[in-house]
Amino acid sequence: MSKIGIFVGSVYGNAQHVAEDVETMLGAQGRESQVFTDPTLDDFKQVSSMIFISSTTGQGDIPPNLEFFIQDLRDQFPLMEQKPFAVAGLGDSSYGETYCGAGRQIFELLTELQGKPITVLLEIDACETLEPELEVVAWAEKLLPDLM
Ligand SMILES: Cc1cc2nc3c(=O)[nH]c(=O)nc-3n(C[C@H](O)[C@H](O)[C@H](O)COP(=O)(O)O)c2cc1C
Repeated sequence: MSKIGIFVGSVYGNAQHVAEDVETMLGAQGRESQVFTDPTLDDFKQVSSMIFISSTTGQGDIPPNLEFFIQDLRDQFPLMEQKPFAVAGLGDSSYGETYCGAGRQIFELLTELQGKPITVLLEIDACETLEPELEVVAWAEKLLPDLM
């Protein structure tokens, strides 16, 4: 059966909370999904489509919980053969040039791995949005037809 992988990068729990709400929505829509906070390459290969939801830390950096996984993807370079993906970045525009840097890096990497982006990077700005889960869940709901 097809499964949607929800890969989360989170430092303080915001993105984690958003991911759990997306999982709940997908379940309510009758779709199987799994949240991965400490993913492996096997998890990555096993899902039929994927949503990445990641905050940015440091100066445009990937949260520590995803660091090794992203490095593994860069090193092993498992080609995605047009597997559908979408990326939501949680950030803060007051950081200027590094705004949503982790989301950008992930989007770029998945494109290099020959995944199929089903939409552009969603940027969620903490300066403007107090309830990121509402925006991300609504966004993910619209993507349902393209998520296998
Ligand atoms: C130490 C620190 C560094 C951050 N660096 C960035 C950054 O470079 N770019 C950005 O867009 N947001 C940055 N942020 C903002 C977070 O990405 C944002 O607050 C996000 O909602 C946190 O989500 P989380 O709780 O899932 O980690 C930073 C936040 C902190 C506390």
